[in-house]
Amino acid sequence: TAGLGTKKIGQHVYAYDEVVSTQPLAHDAAAKGAVEGTLVLAEQQTGGKGRLGRPWHSPKGTGIWMSLIVRPSIPLPKTPQMTLLTAVCVARTIREETGLPVKIKWPNDIFIGDKKVCGILTELNAESDRVNYLVIGIGLNVNSVESDFPEELAQVGTSLRIESGQAISRVRFIQQFCRIFEETYEQFLLEGFQPIKSEWEAYSYTIGRLVTLQTISKKLEGRAIGLDEEGVLLVEDEAGLVHKVYSADVNYRAN
Ligand code: BTN
Repeated sequence: TAGLGTKKIGQHVYAYDEVVSTQPLAHDAAAKGAVEGTLVLAEQQTGGKGRLGRPWHSPKGTGIWMSLIVRPSIPLPKTPQMTLLTAVCVARTIREETGLPVKIKWPNDIFIGDKKVCGILTELNAESDRVNYLVIGIGLNVNSVESDFPEELAQVGTSLRIESGQAISRVRFIQQFCRIFEETYEQFLLEGFQPIKSEWEAYSYTIGRLVTLQTISKKLEGRAIGLDEEGVLLVEDEAGLVHKVYSADVNYRAN
C-alpha cells in the first residue's frame, strides 16, 4: 500500500496464496468489522465463483482475483449501480494501462473484441432495508496465455496479455484501479449515478444491439437503447414498447 495515495480503497489488504474463493473470506472479514476499502486477494482460487452459480476459472498467478468490501449508505434498490460503477472503473483502468478498446457488456462483463476479459460478482449483506456492506468480486484475466484457458473457455475468454502482447504488472493495475475506484465512488456518493451512467454508456457493448433476454418472468426480444437514470437497462421491442430490465441473462443477436 506504500505510495498508493488513496484514503480508503486498498489501504487494508488480505493477500492469500491459495483459497477456495475470496468472496466468503471477504464476507467473514466484513462481518468482523473490516473497514471500507479492504481488499481480499489470492494468487489462485480452487472454487472461484461466477454469476448465476457458475464457476470462475482462477489459475495460479495469471489473473487478479480479488474481493473489495464497501459500505455505501445507499438504499437497497441502488446497489446494482455499484456494480455498474465497478465495471466502469475496471474498464477505465484497462484503457489507461493498456490502451485496449475495452467494452462493458450489460450488466458487468468486460469485453475486448468479442471475448470476455473480466467478470464482476457483487454480493450484498443487508439488515432490514439498509445496506450493511457489499462484497464486490472482480476476476480479471491479466497474464494468461491461450493454453491457460480450458478448451471450452478459449473461444469466449481472453486476457490483457493476449490482447496487448505484453505482460502487465498486476500490482500496478490494482493500485491504479484503487485510485480510480476511490475517486469515482466518492463522486457517486456526492452526485449520484448520472456521471457513471454516461461513462457506462460510452463503454457499452450492449447499447444499440438486438438482444434476447430471459428475465424471471418473461422472454423479451428487442434493441437495447440505454440505461435509465437508476441504471436499469432499457430494451425497446418491435412494437416500440420500452421495457425495463433489472436482471436477466442476455443473449445477443446479429444486428
Ligand atoms: C462472472 O462474470 O460471472 C463474475 C466472476 C467473478 C469472479 C471473481 S474472482 C474474485 C472473486 N472471488 C470469486 O470467487 N469470484 C469473484
